Amino acid sequence: MTGVITRATPVPSPGLPGRVRIYEVGPRDGLQNEQGVIPVEVKEEFVRRLLAAGLPVVEATSFVHPRWVPQLADAAELMSRLGDDGRDCPVLVPNERGLDRALELGLRHVAVFASATETFAAKNLNRTLETQLEMFAPTVERALAAGIDVRAYVSMCFGDPWEGPVAPEQVVEVGQRLLAMGATELSLGDTIGVGTAGDTRRLIEVVGRDIDRSLLAGHFHDTYGQALANILVALQHGISVIDSAAGGLGGCPYAAGASGNVATEDVVYMLNGMGVDCGVDINALVAASTQIFDHLNREPASRTMRALLAKHHNVI
Ligand code: HMG
Ligand code: MG
Repeated sequence: MTGVITRATPVPSPGLPGRVRIYEVGPRDGLQNEQGVIPVEVKEEFVRRLLAAGLPVVEATSFVHPRWVPQLADAAELMSRLGDDGRDCPVLVPNERGLDRALELGLRHVAVFASATETFAAKNLNRTLETQLEMFAPTVERALAAGIDVRAYVSMCFGDPWEGPVAPEQVVEVGQRLLAMGATELSLGDTIGVGTAGDTRRLIEVVGRDIDRSLLAGHFHDTYGQALANILVALQHGISVIDSAAGGLGGCPYAAGASGNVATEDVVYMLNGMGVDCGVDINALVAASTQIFDHLNREPASRTMRALLAKHHNVI
């Protein structure tokens, strides 16, 4: 075969973290956006395979209102089936009702999700910018009191389909409020994937004036094909936690035009090539993604996954 590439030795790039923590969101962000409902046993196997592939964090599902996200209405059953193996998998909770459901199952990590814009707060949470925070405050307080770790998302960090460009200062304002509540990590979401490398640099620089960069994560959807470029810039600017979804699953049912998250395989391939450790076995990851895409009966968005499955190249 022509064009065979073998990468035996990574080529390190200066200014990058030595290690990146990949925060896998495929089972939650990915599957929340699928048309059909995936059987719970398929989800369980997916999560187990992702954990076995070495992903340090797998966000498994959401304890939101089942009418709002029917695709994840089986959240309690999924987490019960995972048992001890899923105890450290974070789940989304928008409010105290969601937290109660997570507490009943003995879960140890939850994530609240705020919007940087007024319109998306209304569309996604049925709240205003201010009342979304009023909903999170007691949720976070009770979670912390119960010894549960809380991550916080800020969505629409670059642009919003209803309001247009979003000023970084709006992100700082919401992010600081969430951290003041006690969240331990702030994931900056390009929910509709409109940011480019310059936007990413500017956002991190502005947010980084008030918030320690070690608390930040990057959550890039790949709608315009910019996610890997944004991730590289984020890594060069002190971010070392990256959200991604196996195979490039994903989207948000309440954000028109939002496509999948950056594919975990593509991130792992890039990190491996640059000698940045992430602890993920790419072959086991591809096997996990293959199981779910076979079930969905469609091609993965991940270019790395498609290349590896087509055996065009002999890589890594
Ligand atoms: P609401 O209609 O305002 O709810 O929805 P409410 O507080 O008025 O309560 C109404 C009823 O819902 C009550 O029941 C509650 O108990 C029940 P009733 O008394 O009428 O029988 N209820 C619940 N039931 C189960 N679980 C719950 C829950 N909460 C209330 N947690 C609500 C407000 C927040 C619940 C709703 O808007 C919602 O569930 N939204 C979730 C939307 C969502 O999941 N979006 C996708 C995730 S965000 C995302 O993808 C972006 C991200 O990836 C980052 C990025 O990309 O930028 C994170
Ligand atoms: Mg998302």
